[in-house]
Amino acid sequence: MALDARVEGLATSATLAMNELAARLTSEGRELFRLGFGQSPFPAPDEVVAALRDNAHRCDYLPVRGLPALREAIAAHHTRLHGATVKADNVVVGPGSKQLMYLVQLVLDAVTIVPTPAWVSYVPQARLASRPCVTVPTAIDDGWRLTPAALEATCREAAGDQGQLATANGGGAGRGAPGASGRLAARLPLLILNYPGNPTGTTYQESDLAALAEVAERHDLLVLSDEIYGDLDHRGQHVSMARFYPDGTLVTSGLSKWCGAGGWRLGCLLVPDALSRVGDAVAAAASETYSAASTPVQHAALQAYRGSSEITAGLEAQRRILATLGSWCAERLGAASVRTCKPQGGFYLFPDFGVLADRLAERGIDTSDELARRLLTETGVATLPGSDFGRPPRELALRLAYVDFDGAAALRACAEREIDEGFLRQHCGRVLAAIESMCEWVGR
Ligand SMILES: Cc1ncc(COP(=O)(O)O)c(C=O)c1O
Repeated sequence: MALDARVEGLATSATLAMNELAARLTSEGRELFRLGFGQSPFPAPDEVVAALRDNAHRCDYLPVRGLPALREAIAAHHTRLHGATVKADNVVVGPGSKQLMYLVQLVLDAVTIVPTPAWVSYVPQARLASRPCVTVPTAIDDGWRLTPAALEATCREAAGDQGQLATANGGGAGRGAPGASGRLAARLPLLILNYPGNPTGTTYQESDLAALAEVAERHDLLVLSDEIYGDLDHRGQHVSMARFYPDGTLVTSGLSKWCGAGGWRLGCLLVPDALSRVGDAVAAAASETYSAASTPVQHAALQAYRGSSEITAGLEAQRRILATLGSWCAERLGAASVRTCKPQGGFYLFPDFGVLADRLAERGIDTSDELARRLLTETGVATLPGSDFGRPPRELALRLAYVDFDGAAALRACAEREIDEGFLRQHCGRVLAAIESMCEWVGR
C-alpha cells in the first residue's frame, strides 16, 4: 500500500518520541512532571458545562458557518475585547481553530510564511494542503517576535528581488514543505502570526502590530492571525492584528484555551468583508468535510461567549495565576543562566540553554532533542525540544508548558488570598518543583 508523499513521515515527530518515553517511565513507576503537553489546567466554567448538558438533546445539524446567535456572540466578544470590528457575517464556526486554519491553507493558492519558533501544526498543514512554506527565524533578543525588517526581507525575496522566497532572511530560513521548487513570487504570501505565542509565551505590542501591518499592506500579504491565546493575555489587553490590518487579516480563535474546553472542539475564523471569497471557500470546504461543529457544543459556546460576571472573574483569576507562575519560572530559570523571555500570555516558556552549551556538551548534550530526553530521564521533567517548533536541532531551546497543577483548586483558592510565592508553592507546587529540579540539574 502506498501512502501519499504528503503524509509520509508526518507522525514521527520528536513530540511522539517524548510521549512514548514518558509513557514508558510512568509504567516503570517514575514520577513525572508534565511540562510537555500544553493543555489548559483550568476547568470550563460551571455555567458553560451546564449549558452543554442542557443542550445534549439537540441532535440536528446546524448551518455550516455556525449557530447564528453564536456567530453574533463571537463577533461581539472580539469587537468588545480585542479592538477589531467584527460582524456576525464575518464569523465561521468550526470544530476547532486548527481545522479552520487548515481549510484556510487549503483554499488559498498561497505560499505560507511561518515565523519560528512556531506552533507544531502550521508547517504540516501546509504540507497536507500541498502549499509551499517558508520559515523565518526570530530571535530571543526580539522576544521571539517577527520584526518588520525580517518580514520586509522575506517579502522582497518573495517578490523575486533576490531569487526564491525559501532563502529569505539568511541562514536558518528554510522550506517546511515539499513542492516549493521554482520561484514563489507568483503566489500570494500568507503570513501566519500567533500571539500570545505557543511556544514562546510572548506577545506583540500595538506598535509592533502597526509596524508589521504597514509592511504587510505594502506587500499585499494576507495574514492569518492565530489569536487562540488572546483572552489569556496576562494583562487582559490583547489587541487583534485585524485592528491594524483590517482588510488583509483572517483571525482564528476558539474555546480551547481561555475556556479550558480544548476537547469540545470549538473554534472560529473571522473573515473581513474584503476577503469574503475566502470565507465562502472555507464554508464550501467545510460543508464537504465536517458539515458543522457539534450542536450541543455550539450552544455551550454561546453561553461562554455571551459571558457573565462569574466567567469574567474566573478569566481574570486565570490570568493572574498564569502571570505570577510564568514570571516565577522565567526568573528562576534566568537565575540559573537559562535565558527565558518573561511570559506575557498563555502558559508557555521557550527557554534557551545556549549559554550553557559547553557544559552540556561535556555531558554529551548538543541538540534540543537530547536535552529534552536527558532532562526527562534524569529529572522526570517532561518538556518538548525546540526542534519540534521549527528551530535548528543544535539550538538548545525547550518548550515548557507550566500547567502541571490543579487549576480548579487554584482558582478556588485565589478568591481568598493573594497570589504570591506561598500561593504558588501550595497550589502550583509541582511546576515549582520541576523548575527547581531543572535548575539544579543544569547547575550540576
Ligand atoms: C498556537 C495554537 N493554535 C491553535 C491551536 C488549536 O486550537 P483548537 O483547539 O482551537 O484547534 C493550539 C492548540 O494547542 C495552539 O496552541
